[in-house]
Amino acid sequence: MLETPAVLIDRERLGRNIAWAQALADRRGVALRPHVKTHKCLEIARLQLEGGAVGLTASKVDEAFVFLEAGVPSMTVAYPIVDERKLRRLLLAAQERTTDLRVVVDSREASQLLARVAAEMRMRVGVFVEIDVGLHRCGLNESDPELIDLAQWIRSAAPLQFTGLLSHAGHAYGAGDAEEVAAIAAEECRILQRVRAMLEGCGIEVAEVSVGATPTVLASEAYAGITEIRPGNYVFMDRTPVRLGLATFDQIGLTVLVTVVSRNAEYLITDAGSKVLTSDLGAHGTAGAGGYGVAFPIDEPVGGSAGLNVARLSEEHGFVDAIRGNIAIGTKLRVVPNHACPVVNLADELVVVSGDRAIDRWRVAARGKVR
Ligand SMILES: Cc1ncc(COP(=O)(O)O)c(C=O)c1O
Repeated sequence: MLETPAVLIDRERLGRNIAWAQALADRRGVALRPHVKTHKCLEIARLQLEGGAVGLTASKVDEAFVFLEAGVPSMTVAYPIVDERKLRRLLLAAQERTTDLRVVVDSREASQLLARVAAEMRMRVGVFVEIDVGLHRCGLNESDPELIDLAQWIRSAAPLQFTGLLSHAGHAYGAGDAEEVAAIAAEECRILQRVRAMLEGCGIEVAEVSVGATPTVLASEAYAGITEIRPGNYVFMDRTPVRLGLATFDQIGLTVLVTVVSRNAEYLITDAGSKVLTSDLGAHGTAGAGGYGVAFPIDEPVGGSAGLNVARLSEEHGFVDAIRGNIAIGTKLRVVPNHACPVVNLADELVVVSGDRAIDRWRVAARGKVR
């Protein structure tokens, strides 16, 4: 039996999730460019690319670097880069390997920096302008008077190639149900169609429109005008798409194996606290599920019973509701976390399992690459 805590990846479910997203993209006639921030793992990226993904998406430059070094053919860095050192590092890595590199901008400052560094390095870089479709994080609002000027400026900057529009509807994680997520996806699609029409009306060709968040990809019927999807979380899923009614427990590819080390009248105490499960209640600061995950005894299928709520966390201890009297000290539980992505970022390795057998260990190669 494995030592705990351990992050387990169900090999069959991982394969199914990868194939499902690829089939969906193929059916919709859009490209799939998965976001690697979920798995940070070369072996999983390889499976996605072999499955038909056109390239990968990364957040941070050093995260992208790990996959560029491994030879990924095409990479989008979907994060504003405003530090010249990081930009040089990224461009150099892509140049050395002739990677098709795309970056996103939402400001004149970042665009000017990119144009200057790319020109010095004699490189051509694809550029997406990010559109804020409701998360209110990065991106320009569709009615921002800067939007047309920025796109025009990028188009006229010699080393830059205006690729198109990119958005991330992360606010869908805060929705109450699948219907609300579908409405957010439809609105994202409408906003991007309007922006595209506006730019094309000014003679600016919009070759690509890239969207992607796992909930909207799961819920959406609206793909008009979209050319690419960038889901990340779908490879593992977690408690959040289940809560939203968009996935079922039998699609969950990542669980955390923990051991009950003590118990009291209220709680089973486990060996996985916030240093394993993270204190994240859900993506983008959402907190729909109430708790830090849901636990299932190892001899029961995940989702097969009601599940025990992980109600509280210390750094090294989990507090699981002791609503069932028959769970002894030493029992192993599998926890479905609220948000799988930051859990991976805290783990050195992923233990790959097939049924109840550990068949491999994959390094979290881009762990902690937050610059
Ligand atoms: C810009 C961008 N694209 C795509 C994704 C993937 O979203 P998800 O993990 O919901 O699939 C994220 C996630 O935060 C993101 O920030």
